[in-house]
Amino acid sequence: MPPAEQGPLPKAELHLHIEGTLEPELAFALAERNGVALPYATEDELRRAYSFEDLQSFLNLYYALMAVLRTEDDFTDLAHAYLARARHQGVRHAEIFFDPQAHTARGVPVGTVIGGLARALDTAQERYGISTRLIMCFLRDESADSALETFEAARPYLDRITAVGLDSAEVGHPPAKFAEVFALAREAGLKCVAHAGEEGPAGYVWQALDILGVDRIDHGVRCMEDERLVARLVAEQVPLTLCPLSNVRLRVIDDLAAHPLPAMLDAGLLVTVNSDDPAYFGGYVDDNFIAVREALGLDDATLRTLARNSFRASFLDEDTRARYLREVDAHEAAAPARRPGW
Ligand code: ADE
Ligand code: ZN
Repeated sequence: MPPAEQGPLPKAELHLHIEGTLEPELAFALAERNGVALPYATEDELRRAYSFEDLQSFLNLYYALMAVLRTEDDFTDLAHAYLARARHQGVRHAEIFFDPQAHTARGVPVGTVIGGLARALDTAQERYGISTRLIMCFLRDESADSALETFEAARPYLDRITAVGLDSAEVGHPPAKFAEVFALAREAGLKCVAHAGEEGPAGYVWQALDILGVDRIDHGVRCMEDERLVARLVAEQVPLTLCPLSNVRLRVIDDLAAHPLPAMLDAGLLVTVNSDDPAYFGGYVDDNFIAVREALGLDDATLRTLARNSFRASFLDEDTRARYLREVDAHEAAAPARRPGW
């Protein structure tokens, strides 16, 4: 009997900004619910603004659109919308970033953000078959003091948070600026990740490792400019959470066919594929898998390696990790031959 048609490869998504999953439809619905005026007349007009020069030009729109997120319900609805899509992309586990300062700066308390997200995540295993973790990111273009205040404001909710991260405009805001807040996070038993080597230099990846003590690097594509750094990342098997469609949209690379992903795999780096801000960059995580398969000619074995890497690089407990890895193997066993599309 031929194997039953399988869904997409089971995978973990480790680099996903929940605010970057705000689709135009939901943005307009929340704007209406909250009486917020958007500077776009229609969803199509908003979509036409999704043409970016660089990271900063994207961030300007990303932060502006967050004005529609005001209540716990808004954050709950946002997370449900992501999880419903992620299920159809083969996501079994999601480690989700959020940017508290982008909300507290607008008068939305951190407890509203975390409470709203947690309400959706608490149902995610049962409703969507997806296990979840939350990663609280500091905005690196805000001050070190602001990050410290944010961490203290979030202390009552740390039981909901697995890791801290570092994101927003990279160049000119080196990881070293946040040494103190990352030390506090480690003392509190949290894992640490940081965006580094997206637009910023390889030196920022060194700082994230040596000064912040991170467990993973988000993006990290520019590590390829520094042989010694690659050797270090390979030796320690530090995971890199790559976001190929994001890199094209933010002009970190010229086009997908030139993405260093294959060279990174060949070098022995522990790389994963993720969607970053899928509402803005033209695809969710399996869309990224399909795009790199097509543009880079990756074979099925390589795609399964990427799926395995996503679980290896996750903050899951060992039993759950092993269970998910068996799911990837079962997918392999049932579908050894090529099929067009997943
Ligand atoms: N915040 C949301 N997406 C980001 C990205 N790609 N880089 C840095 N900060 C971000
Ligand atoms: Zn990111």
